[in-house]
Amino acid sequence: MNSRPRRNRASSTIRRMVSETQVRPEDLIFPLFLIDGKGLEVPIASMPGIARYSEDLILKRIEACVNLGVNSFVIFPAVEDSLKDKEATYAMRSDNFYLRTIRSIKQHFPDVCLMSDVAMDPYSSDGHDGYVENGKIINDRTLPILGRMAVHQAEAGIDIVGPSDMMDGRVGYIRKALDDAGFTETAIMSYTAKYASAYYGPFRDALDSAPKFGDKKTYQMDPANKREALREARLDESEGADYLMVKPALCYLDVIHVLRESSHLPIAAYNVSGEYAMLKAAGEKGWINYDRAMPEMLLSIKRAGADVILTYFAEEFAQRFREGSIY
Ligand code: PBG
Repeated sequence: MNSRPRRNRASSTIRRMVSETQVRPEDLIFPLFLIDGKGLEVPIASMPGIARYSEDLILKRIEACVNLGVNSFVIFPAVEDSLKDKEATYAMRSDNFYLRTIRSIKQHFPDVCLMSDVAMDPYSSDGHDGYVENGKIINDRTLPILGRMAVHQAEAGIDIVGPSDMMDGRVGYIRKALDDAGFTETAIMSYTAKYASAYYGPFRDALDSAPKFGDKKTYQMDPANKREALREARLDESEGADYLMVKPALCYLDVIHVLRESSHLPIAAYNVSGEYAMLKAAGEKGWINYDRAMPEMLLSIKRAGADVILTYFAEEFAQRFREGSIY
């Protein structure tokens, strides 16, 4: 034999030398759940190790992460039912706890990168991402709400707004709204290919944001479709997106791959709540070697072509990266 691939696997030094893909804490965005109040840390049953925090404790969490080299966060608000309505008006109150906390994080940690969620569902009494009329999601009635929401977030100091609602034309609408308000430097990470997935379940528990009727299939994508992701990507790029995201990550590695091949923008992937829950649960039961499976999962998302990964594993990964126990 003149070719023996095993020679390049002979020792850990050689394996590391020829390793094609690395995950670093800098590649990760850590999603954090925010609630109103003080001194609150409310665990999420379906996401062991993840909690909803009030402003004071989210600052502590961020400090711990920054010390580990995780400097990017996406913040999701869990809003009380009594504050929800059809038009998501609470999102536009500049004194609301979400915008207040964004300002406070930026004051304490000016160098962190903060990403927002631009969608109606955390604030909507219908639990949908768009404006609802007669049981239908009205696309063009939703756009101005998203535009206003994004401008409020930019005003509070958000670096990257993240439209996650899958309405048509939202990236262009939000870009124009931001520019008109003077926020030309606020970036847009579009949830370009967001699938109508069963893997969002634990997230909806965390925010109590499940739809009050029906499902999200008239706006989120059909898991069967890949060409359609390219169509969405082309639109988002032409409307001014700065990043394209695929969500969920694991069942959609092929979609991450085609977007990476067909665009020059950074590609992000959202390793969603259900993917986190699945691995945690199997690990707790002793059915899988969690310590090895977790970095393998992140590596596979990177290898598929993601430059950036939004993941609930971020802090834990960075901790183990620091200890040198990942690779
Ligand atoms: C909604 C939104 C969802 C997630 C992020 N933004 C859920 C949904 O579309 O119902 C899911 C994230 C996760 O599951 O980790 N705007």
